[in-house]
Amino acid sequence: MEAKNRVYVFDTTLRDGEQSPGCSMTLKEKLEIGRQLARLGVDVIEAGFPISSRGDFESVRAIAEVVGNMEVGKMEPPVIAGLARAREGDIKRAAEAVKPAKRPRIHTFLATSPIHMERKLHMTPAQVLQAVSEQVKLARSFVEDVEFSLEDGGRTEWPFMVEVVAAAVDAGAGTINIPDTVGYCQPGQFAEQMRYLFEHCPQASQAVISVHCHDDLGLAVANSLAAVREGARQVECTINGIGERAGNASLEELVMNLTTRKDYFGLDCRVRTEELYPTSRMLSQITGQRVQSNKAVVGANAFAHEAGIHQDGMLKDKSTYEIMTPESVGWKGEGMVMGKHSGRHAFRTRLRELGFDLEGDQFEKAFTRFKEVADKKKSVFDDDLVALAGEALSRDPAEVWELTYLSATSGTSVLPTATVKMTYCDQEHIDAAMGDGPVDAAFRAIDRITGNPLKVHEYVLEAVTEGQDAMGRVTIAVSRQDSHSHRVKGRGVSTDVVLASAKAYVSALNALDRIEKNQEQEPEDAPIKSSTP
Ligand code: KIV
Ligand code: ZN
Repeated sequence: MEAKNRVYVFDTTLRDGEQSPGCSMTLKEKLEIGRQLARLGVDVIEAGFPISSRGDFESVRAIAEVVGNMEVGKMEPPVIAGLARAREGDIKRAAEAVKPAKRPRIHTFLATSPIHMERKLHMTPAQVLQAVSEQVKLARSFVEDVEFSLEDGGRTEWPFMVEVVAAAVDAGAGTINIPDTVGYCQPGQFAEQMRYLFEHCPQASQAVISVHCHDDLGLAVANSLAAVREGARQVECTINGIGERAGNASLEELVMNLTTRKDYFGLDCRVRTEELYPTSRMLSQITGQRVQSNKAVVGANAFAHEAGIHQDGMLKDKSTYEIMTPESVGWKGEGMVMGKHSGRHAFRTRLRELGFDLEGDQFEKAFTRFKEVADKKKSVFDDDLVALAGEALSRDPAEVWELTYLSATSGTSVLPTATVKMTYCDQEHIDAAMGDGPVDAAFRAIDRITGNPLKVHEYVLEAVTEGQDAMGRVTIAVSRQDSHSHRVKGRGVSTDVVLASAKAYVSALNALDRIEKNQEQEPEDAPIKSSTP
């Protein structure tokens, strides 16, 4: 990493982002996102926290292998980072996970604020300094590229921050990250902290200074940009701003600020902005986490001009009310239209253009579903294809429960009833139930078959595209009835909303079964995932 006028984009969607409730992804989904992040042109992909579970280790390793060796155009593959606490076991595990990447990085961290050192770590500042030096050296014995983060950096005393940064750089860290872990900082104050760092710590100029801001007070992007103005040259962020609590700084907002206001920042950022919208849409489809419609850059209304006076201005000259174009962020309206005559080749090509590389069984399932949908709908739009690809991806070939038949009745003078057929390990089961409505009846019939009713925490039904014949997409969050159960998400799409609901319910059921079966033997000192920073 070199150039002083370049801002490196460090994406942590697959690590900090994945930690947010309801955003957990399967290995295949993470790989799909990882490939898209490479196409987007991010500099670093933080792929996970390898010590936290076997699943995390395996996905970091797979991303290191596949995405960490993927060249897009003339660009080198992205750096693949694995997170590790400043502990020997964590660092060794991270080193092993990122090894297959062409450009591996170990990202190690230790808290440096008075409250975290005293209350959480029970360590003195001197002990923290010693651990930083030892663990960064250990990480450097495995890889050239080591990043050190001062957890809760935003609440760390500035003179101590200087001592820690000096120790980490002297021990061999090439990137130093100052996170605002709890989203407490204010832009002016954070800028001052950066200035202090550069003025008081000669080592700061020998490393890339990074920032990692959380959005608890809605200032993650503003704080990151304030730091960039003072010399920070790496920003850590996530697609759609997903992440712990209120989330992380949003990648698309950071990138479009740096690009649209290049006159102000005067800095270079190599992200391909026209991949922003497709990446946002893919993540939202895969996680089932919707993007608020007024979200900057990628929200559905980001480029909609409703007011007459605005529309008038736009017609006369777009730049009256438009500071960036929808095309520059990859927004193409409904995109290319496909229909029932579109063949396998056209379908595969379009899916690739939309960022989905489905193979084998997953491709076949998506293609069969596409044909079913094209039979019912006149035109199949990009958003429909993304929904179908997301559905195919979320299906695990080892899935046990399969919905094979559904019939539901409802109306003003009938009791809502559903009959469901499902297979489980090649055995067919059938049952029927009544409910408050056809969706409830279908869920109850499924519960009768499995004998283990689920608790529904969230149910969202939305139209994938405009129009009366639009497909409905259902995202559902469920758990078992007991309070210790995992909470998982399921998704289903169909032109029939009751069927989409039943599919979402079954996909959540399978996800729950999978988690319960694979309940990994976590390493003894593995961190509790929900309590990682
Ligand atoms: O928020 C935080 O402090 C983190 C660090 C591990 C970088 O996520
Ligand atoms: Zn964080």
